[in-house]
Parts: sequence; C-alpha cells; structure tokens
Amino acid sequence: MRIKIIGTGSAVPENIVTNQMLSEIMDTSDEWITTRTGIRQRRIAVTETTSGLASQAARKALEDSGCSPEEIDLIIVATFSPDRCMPNTACTVQAALGCKNAVAFDLNAACSGFLFALNTAQAYMAAGIYRTALLVGAEEISKTVDWKDRSTCVLFGDGAGAAVVQAREGTPMAFVQYSDGTKGEVLTCSEKALKNPWAEPAEDPRMLCMDGQEVFKFAVRKVPECIHEVARQAGISVSQIDWFLLHQANSRIIDSVAKHLGVSRERFPMNLDRYGNTSAASIPLLLDEVRREGRIREGDLVVLSGFGAGLTWGAALLEW
Ligand code: ACO
Repeated sequence: MRIKIIGTGSAVPENIVTNQMLSEIMDTSDEWITTRTGIRQRRIAVTETTSGLASQAARKALEDSGCSPEEIDLIIVATFSPDRCMPNTACTVQAALGCKNAVAFDLNAACSGFLFALNTAQAYMAAGIYRTALLVGAEEISKTVDWKDRSTCVLFGDGAGAAVVQAREGTPMAFVQYSDGTKGEVLTCSEKALKNPWAEPAEDPRMLCMDGQEVFKFAVRKVPECIHEVARQAGISVSQIDWFLLHQANSRIIDSVAKHLGVSRERFPMNLDRYGNTSAASIPLLLDEVRREGRIREGDLVVLSGFGAGLTWGAALLEW
C-alpha cells in the first residue's frame, strides 16, 4: 500500500508585510532580513483565523482531488497556533467542509507537523483503517511572536496548505521521523501560566523564543542525513530525486542542504521570500504552488523534509 497525493490547496491572509514596512516599526532593515534569511515579505493575518485559513486551503485541496466531502475519512490539522484549545481545528474544518464521515484531530510537531501528519495517515492506511485523508498545515504565528523581538518576529508568516491523500496499490513511501526532547529549549512558545485558586499568581510567560544559531546548525546537519536515509530505504541515489521540498525557514539552510547533498539548487523550489516561515503550513503551501505551476510531473520523485521545535525532523520520499 502506498499513499498518493491527489489534490492540494493553500490559503494566505490578504495583508502583505514587506521588510521595508517592518523597518518602519522596529530597528531592522530589508538588507539584514534578506541577506540573513532570504525573506522579503510575509502575510500577516488581520481578520483571518487559523481555522478559517485551514478550511479555505482544505476546500481547495478537496476540489482539486475530485473527492466528495463524504469520501474523506480522516482529517489531521498540524498546527501549534490554533484559534482555540478546543474544539480542535480539524473538527472546525470538518464542519466547514461537511466531511461528516471523517474522524478529525490536530497534531503538533511544530514545523515538522505536516510531515508527521502524512506519516500518521500512511500508518492508518497501511493498517486498513482509513482510505482517504485530508491533511492540513495551518498557522498564525503572528499571534505567538513577540513583536518587540526583532530577532524572531521578522522570520515568520501566517498561512495554510492542504493535501488530500489516498491509499493506492504499491510500495509504501520511504519515511523517517525523529524527535529529541532534550533539545526542546532551543525553540519554544509558551502557553498561558498556571492560574487557579491554589497556584501562586504568575505573569503569562514569554511567547516564541529561539536560539537561531542552534536551530541553523541542527537543520543543516539533520536534513541531509534524513534525505540520505529515505533514498537508501527506497534503494535509489539522492541524485535520482527530482524535487526537494524543504520546510521554508531560511534560504541559507536550503543552500547548505543542496550543497551537502551535491544537488543543483534548482531542484529546491522556494517561496519563503514571499511567505516567510509558516511552520507546519510551509511544506503544503510550497507543494501546492509547485504543483499548480506544473513543475512536478507524473512519476517524479519528490522529497518532503521538515525540521522544527521539539526538536522534531524527518523526510518522506513520494513517487508522484
Ligand atoms: N534586524 C537587524 N539586526 C538584527 C535582527 C533584525 N531583525 N535580528 C537580530 N539582529 C542583530 C542581533 O542583535 C545581532 O546584533 P549584535 O551582533 O550587535 O549583537 C546581530 O544581528 C546578529 O544576530 P544573530 O542572532 O547572531 O544573527 P544570525 O546571523 O545568527 O542570524 C538567524 C539570525 C537569521 C535567525 C539565523 O540564526 C538563522 O538563520 N537561524 C536558523 C533558524 C531559523 O531559520 N529559524 C526559523 C524558525 S525555526 C524553524 O522553522 C524550525
């Protein structure tokens, strides 16, 4: 049994925030952000919600797949920035699209979330439990960053991407996924402080915090390793892979991975210049873009690779 992506979709907020606009409200510059990260602009929600973006992206993916809402039997939304703790975002998507036969839940693996959702769906399908799944990565990171911390707030954007996947005959996709909780403090985003009649009154803790250089070192080491692993699992060489769709955090990370793998940079599509780092949304947002541009063809070998807070990381190799 293998998993096939049969439809994709994406949605982003209307509001475009350029580096120049940021430099007018904080001590930063277009030159610093562009040379350090490759990001030129990002979408920042003004009226949109995480579940609204997730539902829009999911609706487009469903239309693209040609499936009816009733055919979807599993919905997973990967997010660390939902509108509400409950109901989960996936149930909100289910209601919006009328996928009344689906079981729906959220998954949080930060920037690796979409990839982990894909593997979860494949495991359910391999066990014969579900056949057609709607997978979404959706984030509003703008509500989790400290807008006074120039070292993090310039890096992120809001958005959602989705894919409909279906079980098909064939060899399972090659997949690796990892977690290392001992490195969790490198990238954190706190929830509200404990508040009840018995706990000491406390301030809500800091929002998104990151040790950028540690994340950088982790990503450039682990991403090539896990791409080699999936290639080995599939019995092919890395040079046979047509497309490398990496989590869109930083163009210098992507340059370094391409160099380590000895693969032409042209095979690493990128859209972080326009959307910034959208965490769990970044891989499906990019996937939708390259598919709609017609760049991926039937039979192409495509690697998806993500890395993020947890720490979590992994890669999947799909035959299109
Ligand atoms: N504008 C101007 N100056 C800035 C800004 C900014 N927005 N942010 C930081 N600086 C300054 C710092 O204050 C520091 O100044 P100092 O030398 O006077 O102290 C200087 O720039 C260098 O700061 P560093 O943090 O050392 O900058 P670095 O070169 O490491 O770049 C960056 C930071 C871009 C975050 C880099 O570490 C990186 O690419 N990390 C990878 C991690 C990543 O991309 N994370 C994204 C999210 S995580 C994920 O998706 C898993």
